[in-house]
Amino acid sequence: MQPPLWTLDDFEQLARERMSHAAYEYVAGAAGAGLTDAENRAAFQRIRLRQRVLVDASRIDTKLRLFDRDYEFPILLGPTGYHKLVHAEGEIETVKGANLSDATLVAALFSTVAFEAMSREAARPLWFQLYIQTDRGFTKELVESVLAAGCEAICVTVDVPVNGPRDREYRAGFTLPPGVQRANLASRGTAFSAAAHRPAGRNIYSPTHGADATWKDIEWLRSIVPAKLLLKGILDPEDAERAVELGCDGLIVSNHGGRSLDTLQASIDALPAVVEQVRGRVPLLMDGGIRRGTDVFKALARGAAAVLIGRPYLYGLSVGGAAGVARVIEILRTELEMTMGLIGCPELSQISDKFLLQ
Ligand SMILES: Cc1cc2nc3c(=O)[nH]c(=O)nc-3n(C[C@H](O)[C@H](O)[C@H](O)COP(=O)(O)O)c2cc1C
Repeated sequence: MQPPLWTLDDFEQLARERMSHAAYEYVAGAAGAGLTDAENRAAFQRIRLRQRVLVDASRIDTKLRLFDRDYEFPILLGPTGYHKLVHAEGEIETVKGANLSDATLVAALFSTVAFEAMSREAARPLWFQLYIQTDRGFTKELVESVLAAGCEAICVTVDVPVNGPRDREYRAGFTLPPGVQRANLASRGTAFSAAAHRPAGRNIYSPTHGADATWKDIEWLRSIVPAKLLLKGILDPEDAERAVELGCDGLIVSNHGGRSLDTLQASIDALPAVVEQVRGRVPLLMDGGIRRGTDVFKALARGAAAVLIGRPYLYGLSVGGAAGVARVIEILRTELEMTMGLIGCPELSQISDKFLLQ
């Protein structure tokens, strides 16, 4: 890793120079014209903070308790696929980065290292991101095996029943290189050919992916998942209500980093209505566009219990392996502490919308 790497955007710039053009376009890219992806960031930038002074900032505390576990800070590594695209050791290196920074990683179904191998390496229990598979028997097997391997929470991604148009990926001619495999599927004997991943045409349906999934499947998953169950990709308060009524333990307010349906609103702007509907019955997490400590603060001020990041830690992984992932987390965490100290709110539990100008 070469300095100057002081911000998450510095990591992106360096990663862009180091990654192949196609891999960078896959990671950085979004759906359609990328309006939602840009809006995720712009919406954070529009929010103005309200500063109070002469509050004792000699001790800044970012600790929280979430799902019966202590966390040092409210930032998780969100699920992203195919880490071997950006680092030879793939997700094993990411887990080492999470270990170095005391962060929790949500392992993606489409990881290039099997969940069991990641879990063996992980200092903190992993969460697992699930796409409901067309074969529900196989979906059940997957869930049972990751739980047996120590998974603490299952996040079911519900916002991509079919593929969106990934314009930048198509233009760059992105395909998965040979050797970059969906290890969780390959290790269980499920046929998947890399060539099937978005060949030249626009594939609406992903191989294996359960495009027919409905709320009935969430009811079913709830009955077979004894661990924490979260839905990832909730934007609408009515969907949030239904998820809570079905017994989900938490929700991730997300538009998939703008990678599914373009022109959706920014996640941070969808958050308040979901917060109002859920009224604290379950914790709400959010992701999309988090690049600065002030963004983390704003998400918490609008009612998120914690945030997840996607692209930034992949840039860290690309530039510096485990140390790069850890540095990305450290930058964000330090910036959050700086924000809390400067704004006059040194306690995480005291963060609220009274620190935002409405
Ligand atoms: C390269 C890449 C791969 C991703 N793969 C998945 C995935 O397999 N499952 C999933 O639920 N979300 C996936 N996501 C979305 C992230 O979990 C997250 O919602 C998004 O990246 C957050 O936005 P940010 O990148 O602005 O932080 C992926 C994102 C990226 C950038």
